[in-house]
Amino acid sequence: MFKKAAQVIGALTMSTIFWAAPVVAEPIVIKFSHVVAVDTPKGNAAEFFKKRAEELTKGKVKVEVYPNGQLYKDREEMDALQFGAVQMLAPSLAKFGPLGIKDFEVFDLPYIFNGYEDLHKVTDGPVGRKLLDKLEIKGIKGLAYWDNGFKSFSANTPIQTPDDLKGKKMRIQPSTVLEEQMRELGAIPQIMPFFEVYQALQTGAVDGTENPISNFYTQKMYEVQKYMTITNHGYLGYAVIVNKKFWEELPADIRTQLEIAMKEATDYANKSAKTSNDKDLQSVKASGTTEVTTLTPEQRAAFRKALIPVHDKMTGRIGKDTMDAVRKAVGFVD
Ligand code: LMR
Repeated sequence: MFKKAAQVIGALTMSTIFWAAPVVAEPIVIKFSHVVAVDTPKGNAAEFFKKRAEELTKGKVKVEVYPNGQLYKDREEMDALQFGAVQMLAPSLAKFGPLGIKDFEVFDLPYIFNGYEDLHKVTDGPVGRKLLDKLEIKGIKGLAYWDNGFKSFSANTPIQTPDDLKGKKMRIQPSTVLEEQMRELGAIPQIMPFFEVYQALQTGAVDGTENPISNFYTQKMYEVQKYMTITNHGYLGYAVIVNKKFWEELPADIRTQLEIAMKEATDYANKSAKTSNDKDLQSVKASGTTEVTTLTPEQRAAFRKALIPVHDKMTGRIGKDTMDAVRKAVGFVD
């Protein structure tokens, strides 16, 4: 009898061990915060990364994308990344100056890149990598560059010559180079977070702005700006960044899979950014509320002449080494 009871208890113990609910490891969560709409070059690339990261890691990583600044706005998101409240961001390159890494403002120089091909000579090469490495002292690891596009000016009065922006209050991102660019045109630069721009244009707190078409369209700025001139005077793109400690502490196999997902997302982003901006330009034109004009070659030359002095004035801020390296990579001639 005693022996029988012992056998039952033994069997129970075995079956308890055998039937214990399998321990399911919690997925590693990557919170990816950004400030633009989903259907933009950055928004779509973030969704693409999420999909591939989750597929490649077979669900061991879960990427939560928070678009439209719903979690954090411009400057807050940088703090959140450093504190580890989010793990991944893709701020525009104009937003690294306030962090103390002023070299990134080289990307804001007017007319430094003649198009995406020129830009990629920097972002796909050693100069771009060296810039990303400068983020490490801030506890940030730079993973990739994602394109958006070239910026155009908009306002409620026509813009055909540099003088047309004189005295206008123009919203800019937090970059000293962009401030200088607006001053060079006689405009009054107003640094403002992205999420405030529509309302500021609507209420007249600012007169105009500069943006790639995708941001202009998805933020519905066409409702509150009568004129846009395709100037392509400067570039706006992103650095995809992660909290360095988080990244380095990931299991090596997971990190490798995420690197593959990031590489694929980067190819996707940089192949689709132009198409996306071109499509949005058609939508802005179709809105009928913003008149879109393109500069003649002579008008473009006048803007370029007015804005090139920004390069020399900002060399001290950006750093001569970075400035020279970028100019050399793109074969820049005054
Ligand atoms: C802006 O503030 O205008 C842009 O940096 C927004 C963005 O992320 O494209």
